[in-house]
Amino acid sequence: MCGIVGVTGKQNAVEILLKGLERLEYRGYDSAGIYVNDQDGKEYLVKEKGRISELRKEVSGDVHGSTGIGHTRWATHGAPSKANAHPHVSADGRYYLVHNGVIGNFAQLKEEYLQDVTFKSDTDTEVVVQLIAKFAQQGLDTKAAFKKVLSLIDESSSYSFLLVDHNEPDTLYVAKNKSPLLIGVGQGFNVVCSDALAMLDQTHDFIELVDGEIVVVKPNSVTIEDPQGKVMERKPFHVSTDASEADKGAYPYYMLKEIDEQPGVMRSLIKHYVAEDGSIKIAPELLTKLNNADRLYIVAAGTSYHAGLVGREIFEGLTKIPTEVHVASEFAYNPPLLSQKPFFIFLTQSGETADSRQVLSLVNQWGYQSLTITNVENSTLSREATHTLLLYAGPEIAVASTKAYTGQIALEALLAKAMGAQKGLTTAANFEVAQELTKVANGMQELVDEKAQIEKIATAALATTRNAFYIGRAIDYDIAQEAALKLKEVSYVQTEGFASGELKHGTIALIEKDTPVVAIITDAKTAKHTRSNAQEVLARGANVIYIVSRALAEEGDQIVLPDVHPLLTPLLAIVPCQLLAYYTSLQRGYDVDKPRNLAKSVTVE
Ligand code: F6R
Repeated sequence: MCGIVGVTGKQNAVEILLKGLERLEYRGYDSAGIYVNDQDGKEYLVKEKGRISELRKEVSGDVHGSTGIGHTRWATHGAPSKANAHPHVSADGRYYLVHNGVIGNFAQLKEEYLQDVTFKSDTDTEVVVQLIAKFAQQGLDTKAAFKKVLSLIDESSSYSFLLVDHNEPDTLYVAKNKSPLLIGVGQGFNVVCSDALAMLDQTHDFIELVDGEIVVVKPNSVTIEDPQGKVMERKPFHVSTDASEADKGAYPYYMLKEIDEQPGVMRSLIKHYVAEDGSIKIAPELLTKLNNADRLYIVAAGTSYHAGLVGREIFEGLTKIPTEVHVASEFAYNPPLLSQKPFFIFLTQSGETADSRQVLSLVNQWGYQSLTITNVENSTLSREATHTLLLYAGPEIAVASTKAYTGQIALEALLAKAMGAQKGLTTAANFEVAQELTKVANGMQELVDEKAQIEKIATAALATTRNAFYIGRAIDYDIAQEAALKLKEVSYVQTEGFASGELKHGTIALIEKDTPVVAIITDAKTAKHTRSNAQEVLARGANVIYIVSRALAEEGDQIVLPDVHPLLTPLLAIVPCQLLAYYTSLQRGYDVDKPRNLAKSVTVE
């Protein structure tokens, strides 16, 4: 949700900023801009509507400098346009600012302090830069003016800011609250970024920041002050991810690469979590806390929420602890009545989702224990939860999440197995998780090797349709919901994931001749019933496509899945659904990796 980058002390600042923004484009792609200066008084501001490739075209050869800031935008206040693109500049031309987040009280600040200023944009961000300039004109130095503005921003707001003062061209002023931001440390230079991925070509050492701190970054120093002005010492942490992991390689799109990586994600989880003797390498202290809970609360958004739905089946099946799954944005403002001894599990690929973070803040205020399952080490939700388990799935760049979903489900299975084993439950003891996940990895490989067949189905059934349905019961309904989200977000086909038994209670009215209905059948208990629901839509003209586990397959079923443990079938069933979404998007001529209106890592509520 907006990506920001900054650099000081490097001659090729322009290329560093542009490359960094390209790596952050998943956070928004409505417009982009950079500001650079060369320390000798020359400075350049270039902005463009659209993607970084559009911005690149606008950056002419004479734009150069050794300090600069950049931004890629996902519009919140003000339409996507060149005028609303960041960096924003104060009316006196002294300050340049990029911002990720939302300033809740920007209208009041504008009204109270800035009636005499002519604004060039409709953004909340411009209010901040104009206000810093106003306080500087009244005699405050830059840091004091910046701090004063921060103190006026209300609690509901979120921000990460990067500010440059024309009079101190090698200095970046930095602050954050609820939005992610890291300082990357180099030799004779430093960088700032929303995500370490953006700057892995420059450094692998990053300093995390705490909300409310003000940081002054120069080529040879990083000075962090807490809100009271006390200087904080903080050592950098090392990010071992290779910059090349964030590249597409020979793939046309990240989404396809990430779908293909799923067998590897299963193997990597086994490697990280299963010891040679078959025991699970998860801290016994964490398992005890989880097992002492009388109820597990899984909180997440979007695809991670769907991984939570499957997680409920897995935790209840293997640990016998009642489990609830909640959409974070609903839980935050309408929490359920909690049990006596709750334990909270946050599922989040990015570790930065504002809705989930809002719930975690509440959980921390209430004094309950929590676990974050995430793909991003040192991410905000990881730092703020009591415990973290990592997915080790490698960077997920495509906006539509694929390998994080399957990684989360597999890790839930590893965790539930370890919990059940600690409790001495037979179901858990009989669940050979490493063997089962190896079977899954092999099955996934079979499925991704059969892409051509899925592409044909996508072309025939989905390329031109207006709407579509995924249906299933029990765990297959969980899969149907994720499958539907995948299809709609990348192909813009209006798709519902539906409990197949519920169709006849109203929704079946939407079925017309040739409406695609994908029936997912991996659950033996409900297979017969889903088949009969599929017959009901077939009788009304629907084009039914079956995705079925081998043991339950019948003549004519189009996609047959290798058999795996009943709790793990979503890991296989989702793969053809991801591929159907991918090929439908391509057929329709869309940018699969960057669907319209979306951003990965949704850092505003
Ligand atoms: C859909 C998708 C989103 C995310 C959601 C939560 O493909 O990627 O629905 O799953 O925004 O994001 P994380 O998992 O980063 O908290």
